[in-house]
Amino acid sequence: MTEALAEVPTVFVVDFGAQYAQLIARRVRECRVFSEIVPCDISAEEVRERKPAALILSGGPASVYADGAPRMDPAIYDLGIPILGLCYGMQLMAIDLGGDVPKTDVGEYGFAQLTIVDADPACAIFDGLATRQQVWMSHRDSVGTPPAGFVVTASTPTTPVAAMANAERRLYATQFHPEVAHTPAGQDILKHFLFDVAGLAPTWTMVNIIDEAVGRIRAQVGTAKVICGLSGGVDSSVVAALVHRAVGDQLTCVFVDHGMLRLDEAADVVHVFRDQFRVPLVHVEAEDRYLCLLAGVSDPERKRHIIGEEFWHVFFEEAVKLEGVKFLAQGTLYPDVIESGPGKAAKIKSHHNLIPFPSGVHFDLVEPLRTLFKDEVRAVGAELGLPDHIVHRQPFPGPGLAVRIIGDISREKLDILRRADAIVREEISAWDTEREVWQYFAVLPDIRSVGVMGDERTYARPIIIRAVASADAMTADWARLPHELLATMSNRIINEVEGVNRVAYDITSKPPGTIEWE
Ligand code: XMP
Repeated sequence: MTEALAEVPTVFVVDFGAQYAQLIARRVRECRVFSEIVPCDISAEEVRERKPAALILSGGPASVYADGAPRMDPAIYDLGIPILGLCYGMQLMAIDLGGDVPKTDVGEYGFAQLTIVDADPACAIFDGLATRQQVWMSHRDSVGTPPAGFVVTASTPTTPVAAMANAERRLYATQFHPEVAHTPAGQDILKHFLFDVAGLAPTWTMVNIIDEAVGRIRAQVGTAKVICGLSGGVDSSVVAALVHRAVGDQLTCVFVDHGMLRLDEAADVVHVFRDQFRVPLVHVEAEDRYLCLLAGVSDPERKRHIIGEEFWHVFFEEAVKLEGVKFLAQGTLYPDVIESGPGKAAKIKSHHNLIPFPSGVHFDLVEPLRTLFKDEVRAVGAELGLPDHIVHRQPFPGPGLAVRIIGDISREKLDILRRADAIVREEISAWDTEREVWQYFAVLPDIRSVGVMGDERTYARPIIIRAVASADAMTADWARLPHELLATMSNRIINEVEGVNRVAYDITSKPPGTIEWE
């Protein structure tokens, strides 16, 4: 992959072990410049060979004085490549080039008022910005004296050297974080670095991402046959559409329908891929098989295990029926591929190990999304013409509704949950037109309660509505839905879904709860 992308002008984000590296890489890509995260122990020799157009040194959690603090091969500064050092990256640049970072024990965390020192042309990255800027800081150490040849280009009340530059050598650095949203001019600063300092152009667009991916898939696959496991999720759908664009009917998709999908979801997948995209599609209707295996099973981990294992059985049963298939296409994304951390970034994890090929069966992998972040995958999907509801599909667990039915699973429970869930999704999506709620769905707990409907006493099931706000599913807060919306959902579920006599709303954040119930 890396070799194939060699002609695309690339910015290397050198990872010093903060989670910032991924964010920086994404911000660069938002400027329409391709970026790749590389480990900080990359050698000057490798950098010279791979010819990045620019380097950005990330922040990092370590103090430059800590034992084993990550360092970079200093010969890299002499390669003539423009470099932007951020936070830890700035301190390292200062030390490596002869400046100093005194131990002051005066840190600066959170918002800071930056004053840009007018030192044009050294100020190229601040070109056109107002002298006063709000920026985001998060550091203990900071630069005392910049290296010879550098000028101070900005300061804050606590950090006199908040930015520095050596315009002649095209070396720039900021103590603050331009990549975070709390630095409003951050993206402008990055653009100045990329376009004005490094001379890049914003040429990495969705159209050429697709063209390149198509070219690479064709080169890899030749005239061989490819299969792809389609789940209806964003990643596998985009892979299928992309591979189909590249090699047409050499691709067959296998859609294992385990019966745990939401209302009309299976029919929709079949419609989109078979009727709209005209992709050869094997639709395996395996609901009965799964219900048999899951009968009486109520332990969440056991359910997940059974479904995961059976998926591969069914998939490979179909795969070996299609003769002469050489490749398996799958939706591995960039965050799956990189392990962040000093010396770890861009060490490619082997995904071969993750696929439990049965003995005697082997496919080479085609992973066209390997360099992309999730939001880029969505953009590619939209560009390829996939419908909006697939491109923006909410996260949905592989085991599907099985982990939203507490206790054992039956056709009757699946049916109740599907109908209630469809109402939840219909009502919240009509209200949440800006897609501010991260995820919403219905859960069917393993209890019954007493109620009264008409003159009759009922003893029926409750439905729990779960709706959360989140940025990345690592933490989440329960969504403050309007009471009227909750009332509408409650009324509709009880009136329209037989077997339900009560509706509750889950007001638990994550942590301590999780988003899913199992
Ligand atoms: P939790 O419940 O752990 O979920 O807070 C975090 C996010 O992950 C999704 N999720 C899954 N996604 N396969 C998936 O692809 C799974 O087995 C799975 N389990 C949970 C969940 O919907 C939420 O967005």
